[in-house]
Amino acid sequence: MLAVTNVLRERLKEQTEVQFEVLNPDLCSGCYAGSEVSLSGRNYLYRSLRSWLDLAANLNCRMMTPRIASDETVILRFQKLETYSFHQENPEERSEKYGTDSSFSAINKNEEPAFLSAYLHALDLAETATKKRVLNLGINRGDEFALIRELLPKESFESIEFVGIDHSKSAIQEAESRFETPNMHFYSHDINALGELELGRFDLIISIGTLQSPGINYKPFLMELVQNHLSDDGALILGFPNSRWIDGEMVYGAKMRNYRESDLSLLLGDIDYAKRYLQQKKFSVRISGKEYIFLTAVSR
Ligand SMILES: C[S@@+](CC[C@H](N)C(=O)[O-])C[C@H]1O[C@@H](n2cnc3c(N)ncnc32)[C@H](O)[C@@H]1O
Repeated sequence: MLAVTNVLRERLKEQTEVQFEVLNPDLCSGCYAGSEVSLSGRNYLYRSLRSWLDLAANLNCRMMTPRIASDETVILRFQKLETYSFHQENPEERSEKYGTDSSFSAINKNEEPAFLSAYLHALDLAETATKKRVLNLGINRGDEFALIRELLPKESFESIEFVGIDHSKSAIQEAESRFETPNMHFYSHDINALGELELGRFDLIISIGTLQSPGINYKPFLMELVQNHLSDDGALILGFPNSRWIDGEMVYGAKMRNYRESDLSLLLGDIDYAKRYLQQKKFSVRISGKEYIFLTAVSR
C-alpha cells in the first residue's frame, strides 16, 4: 500500500485525475487487506472497496464509481478535490457567514451517515423523547430539530417545547418557515447574551459546531450555560466537527488555524475540558463519533 500511495501521490502532483486497475474487491469478501489471491493464473493483493475509499480520502480525492475491466478486475478513478471551502468565506455581515446565501446552506448534515448515526446515538443517550424543554444554540435553519421531528411520533414531538437561537437572521427566518407548530420558537440573537432572552432553564441543551466559533469564549461560555440555563436533571449534547466540507464531500479531520495538516489537539483539549467539568458537576459523560465527535452528558 505504501508503494501504491507514493505512486499515486506523485501522479496527482501533475494530474487532476488518476486511474488504475485492481482486483475486483467483490471476489474476496471477508479477506483482510493485503491478502494474496490467485485467480486464473494471476496473483493479486486484495483490498476492499473501503480501503480504496480511504486511500482516495487520504490523497484529498474523491473516488468515482469503479468500472468493470475484466472478469477479475475493476478500474478505479481518483479525482482531486477542489481546494475551495466555504470556511474561507467572509461576508460583510459576520453573522451571515452561515446564512441562507452562504455556501454552507448547500450542506445537509442529516444526509451524511457518519453525522446521522453519531447524532442519533447522542439523542438516544440523552433520552430526548422524555424531555419537556429543548434548547439549541447555533440552530441555523433547524436541521437538528428536523431530525428529531422525523424521529419522534407527532404527538410526542409536539409535546416538547423547542427553542432555537442563531445570530444569522436569514437562517432563523428559514427555520421559522419550516416549523409552524406552536411548540417551536426561534430567536435571531447572539448566544453570548443568552440571558437577555430570559428563557428559563432547559432539560436538554444541544449545540453542534458552534461553541468553538471565533466570537465565543468556550470555557466560560460552557460553565455559564450549565450553571444558568440547564436544569438540575438536564442533559447536554455538544457536537464538535472533526471534518471539513469541501467540493461536495465531508472530509475527515478538522483544520486548525496555523496548522497545515488537520490536528486533533485543540479539539481533544476542548472535549476533555467539557468532560472534566461536567463530571465534576456530577454528570455522566459519553463521547462518540468520528467526523463529528459528540459529547453527551446526562445527570447521574
Ligand atoms: C458551523 S455553524 C453550525 C450550524 C449547525 N448547528 C450545524 O451544525 O450545521 C455555526 C452556527 O452558529 C451560529 N453562531 C456562531 N456564533 C454565534 C453567536 N455568537 N450567536 C449566535 N449564533 C452564532 C452561526 O450563525 C451558525 O449558524
